[in-house]
Amino acid sequence: MPRYALLVLPATNRVYAEASVDLTRAELGVFSESVLGGRITDVAEETLGGVPYVTFGVAEPLGARDVAYLSLLSSAYALFELRELGELRGEGGDAEAAGPLLSPVTLTPLDQFDDDLLTIQKYVGKTNEFFTKLLLNVTVLASESAGELLDRRLRILDPLCGRGTTLNQVLMYGWDAAGIEIDGKDVEAYSGFLRTWLKRKRLKHQAELTPIRRDRKVLGRRFHVTLAADKAAYKSGDALDLTVVNADTRRARDFFRSGSFDAIVTDAPYGVQHGSRSGAPGELSRSPLDLLSAALPGWVDLLRPGGALGVSWNTHVARREDAAAALTAAGLRVCDDPAYLGFRHRVDQAILRDVLVATKPRD
Ligand SMILES: C[S@@+](CC[C@H](N)C(=O)[O-])C[C@H]1O[C@@H](n2cnc3c(N)ncnc32)[C@H](O)[C@@H]1O
Repeated sequence: MPRYALLVLPATNRVYAEASVDLTRAELGVFSESVLGGRITDVAEETLGGVPYVTFGVAEPLGARDVAYLSLLSSAYALFELRELGELRGEGGDAEAAGPLLSPVTLTPLDQFDDDLLTIQKYVGKTNEFFTKLLLNVTVLASESAGELLDRRLRILDPLCGRGTTLNQVLMYGWDAAGIEIDGKDVEAYSGFLRTWLKRKRLKHQAELTPIRRDRKVLGRRFHVTLAADKAAYKSGDALDLTVVNADTRRARDFFRSGSFDAIVTDAPYGVQHGSRSGAPGELSRSPLDLLSAALPGWVDLLRPGGALGVSWNTHVARREDAAAALTAAGLRVCDDPAYLGFRHRVDQAILRDVLVATKPRD
């Protein structure tokens, strides 16, 4: 059986401490079940030449499409096919001592832009960009759009978008992004960052921040951008669309069309540095559950049938069972396949983060 070795991005060790290999294994498990026909087996951690790898077997060699999927893994740095050294024996080499041969497999990520789109912004409360990519991946992989993610432009909402880490990753994939954020300073900081970045990269775009009015009342503000990786794409009307609404996410339905998102991906307030504004205006609640329960009906409405919602939160302030019950109460089907149970990890002393993914059934 062909075997492969995945070299995990060194930076993820810093982010997840000891958990980076476990999270890679869990994410690999979701890719396997969703788009690789469950063909990945014998996932293990192995040290080769003194460097740790995540190794796995596949019934048949990976094809170009399989490699394209695995290239999206949030921690993928390099992929190798493991070859036995039988052919080197007899040439005087000490094959046993040297271990297997690593034959490079070229990764083919979807990335449309330079990765500093995700790394430049640094601020308290930012969701780490590797984790954000993982959450986006495992959510889309649970949705009916999983088989099309290499071929079609998806539309993704982050209804608690902060300064846009999810939105930037969605753009990196060449998809349309939308966000909702209650904090005006975050929306302004994100709009400032993105405009500067687009200018500096000389990317063709249009950007505006305008009030949203209805019945002569101002409901919030909208930051709207169209952009493309090259001029030709922009001219031919193939520009990507990004919308951020500065408003309360519990009013999500006021701003977007029902059934218009393939997936909803969000990192809920941790109840630590940020409160979740789910009570009276200005009142801070320690539990993201109150906010989730209040916002979920609107979010679920915006999700297309067959779409998926992925949320991460701090288990110190809300138990997994309670968060899952909130998703179920909103009409979603929680993914409890073993592949989706391996994402709990420590962020710092105050935060033990977990992930829940649920799908919107077609009725
Ligand atoms: C964990 S942070 C998300 C950070 C984001 N992923 C990033 O990397 O910038 C949660 C966000 O939810 C926002 N938030 C809390 N309550 C909200 C509400 N009722 N409506 C909209 N946004 C809200 C907070 O202001 C905060 O920016």
